[in-house]
Amino acid sequence: MIKSQIESLRCELEQHNFNYYVLSAPTISDFDFDAKLKQLQELEAAYPEFYDPNSPTQRVGSDNVSGFEQVPHVYPMLSLGNTYSEGEVQDYYERVRKGLNEDFELVCELKYDGTSISLTYENGLMVRAVTRGDGEKGDDVTANVKTIRSIPLRLKGDFPELFEIRGEILMPWSVFEELNREREEQEEQLFANPRNAASGTLKLQNSKTVASRKLDAYFYYLLGENLPSEIHSGNLKVVHSWGFKISEATKVCKSLEEVFSFIKYWDVERKNLPVATDGIVLKVNSLNQQKNLGFTAKSPRWAIAYKFQAEKAVTRLNSVSYQVGRTGAVTPVANLDPVLLSGTTVKRASLHNADIIASLDLHIGDMVFVEKGGEIIPKITAVDKDARILIGDKVQFIKSCPECGAALVRFEGEAAHYCPNENACPPQIKGKMEHFVSRKAMNIDGLGSETINLLYQNRLLQNIADIYELKIPDLSRLERLGTKSAYNIKDGAEKSREVPFERVVFALGIRFVGETIAKKLAFAFKNIEALEKATLEELVAVDEIGERIAQSVVRYFEDPTNVEMVNRLKSAGLQMSLSDEKLQAHGEALAGLSIVISGSFSLHSRDEYKAMIEMNGGKNVGSVSSKTSFILAGENMGPEKLKKAEKLGVKLIVEKTFLSMLQIETPLLDSQQGVLF
Ligand code: IVH
Repeated sequence: MIKSQIESLRCELEQHNFNYYVLSAPTISDFDFDAKLKQLQELEAAYPEFYDPNSPTQRVGSDNVSGFEQVPHVYPMLSLGNTYSEGEVQDYYERVRKGLNEDFELVCELKYDGTSISLTYENGLMVRAVTRGDGEKGDDVTANVKTIRSIPLRLKGDFPELFEIRGEILMPWSVFEELNREREEQEEQLFANPRNAASGTLKLQNSKTVASRKLDAYFYYLLGENLPSEIHSGNLKVVHSWGFKISEATKVCKSLEEVFSFIKYWDVERKNLPVATDGIVLKVNSLNQQKNLGFTAKSPRWAIAYKFQAEKAVTRLNSVSYQVGRTGAVTPVANLDPVLLSGTTVKRASLHNADIIASLDLHIGDMVFVEKGGEIIPKITAVDKDARILIGDKVQFIKSCPECGAALVRFEGEAAHYCPNENACPPQIKGKMEHFVSRKAMNIDGLGSETINLLYQNRLLQNIADIYELKIPDLSRLERLGTKSAYNIKDGAEKSREVPFERVVFALGIRFVGETIAKKLAFAFKNIEALEKATLEELVAVDEIGERIAQSVVRYFEDPTNVEMVNRLKSAGLQMSLSDEKLQAHGEALAGLSIVISGSFSLHSRDEYKAMIEMNGGKNVGSVSSKTSFILAGENMGPEKLKKAEKLGVKLIVEKTFLSMLQIETPLLDSQQGVLF
């Protein structure tokens, strides 16, 4: 009864997923969908005996960070030969004709510019998703791929018992732009293009974050025995009926002219697609003919890619300006005569760093080639040296900061120049404040970059600690602010006193100390006094803290301005030590034990468990061996680890038991018994 209720909910939700993500034609409101999903989640939690790794509830991801297992490909993942002109396409067509010596059809498809993936289905269930890797073996990213809503976890219709299907995982432009906007706000490195963003996302350790990135996928290649059709286009149609998303831009062509008109049409029309494409793929339609043509060592003879020309424009370089960021990094920007490129007017292009400027041999007044390719920020790819009539001044990277005049420095092994004047260089001061108040740091509402600038100009904010000493009358006196905003800022600052210590460490804006590193430092040193006093040796002894980060932390606290500011923050009542609850987990209960964490957990995150192990004298190790004391086992543990544990007789301990070993109280969970075997 319950079982069939669970199953029918699963089926219904799968159909809605397909309608929404594959057909783009939903038949239910988001609200109703969420309600049904919640109902299923509750049933599954109450009846764990009906657990199913392919249930629609598994698409939300988990905090599992067990690293990826390397898996050999059953069929190697080859690449495609490239062509760049109609002439080369014609040559390919002739080669195929000679090779086959009979009539043939070519299927034209879009070449999606993402990251390729190979999925294995057994009895209609997705069992494995593997990246291309080196073509012979790739990373098992199944947990991450399961979060992609347009990929079916369970198939409909009549499918072979076992098959592989290959396709491209993509980050839609809109998601990519939003992600980069957020990253810019956080001064995190931007993704250069949606391809890098998609492959970076797929390699994330936390599948919950992957789920939030809204990836999409198109499929274009079915492999296995007993395929449904003798022709490639037939197989594509059938896989669509099983639940896969295939491109609507797919055409069977009987002549070279038809191929050219497909190319011509899509070279323009692709700009209206929600995802990036970089060419066309031509494939011989008959599988039998494909077999006859075979493969070279690197690529099939039955398929080839035609790459679209990257859009280029030529324009004049007028000047180079330099921007200084929160960390003092100086970015050179080329100012250009406005020119139209891929539908937008380009006036500026990034020049990245001094080495790139030097390698381009840039002179002011040069005619330069700008390209957009897959990137959103255009780049200068070359100088048209023949167009030089009068040669202008050679572009030399500046020696001093354009904002404060300090001499720039360049750290060994780094491409960027930095302004070292951290405490007096205006964009650095303002940038640090923006970082301090940002959402993932102190989350102080009402202090956007414009307000910070206003308060800085009016000398109300000169230092992060001033935020806690702002006075309502001073704020509301400012013409562009008003009383309501003034209260809003005070209120935001007040609330931020509750922000936990690990986020305060992040908020300080120590160079190279991002969110994760801040957490590690907070858990390792527990309070600001210990962190201030930490030596280089003590810092590098912390897991994942290398010399570069350690040096930056030491340097930060060597600066009396920073120490004074931290002291003022302390007096303002910010959280300067780990909360009691987090400290509770401290002791020697796990001294000398070697512990592997595997699976996903519901009571604490993996990072927290890792910190608990380390704080209790244990060692967290990555792989199971005969030396492993036990495995802290969550749900959906990796099958390889499970097999190994069984073979070596390593105990599995569930989270509740683990917490009780450390005498940490947990809510009672009926479904969890202590040791599993
Ligand atoms: S077929 C044996 N079809 O391009 C090769 N590939 O350079 C089978 N790609 O690794 C690949 N769109 O990541 C094929 N419609 C399409 C494609 C496509 C993009 C990618 C794929 C592959 C690379 C080859």
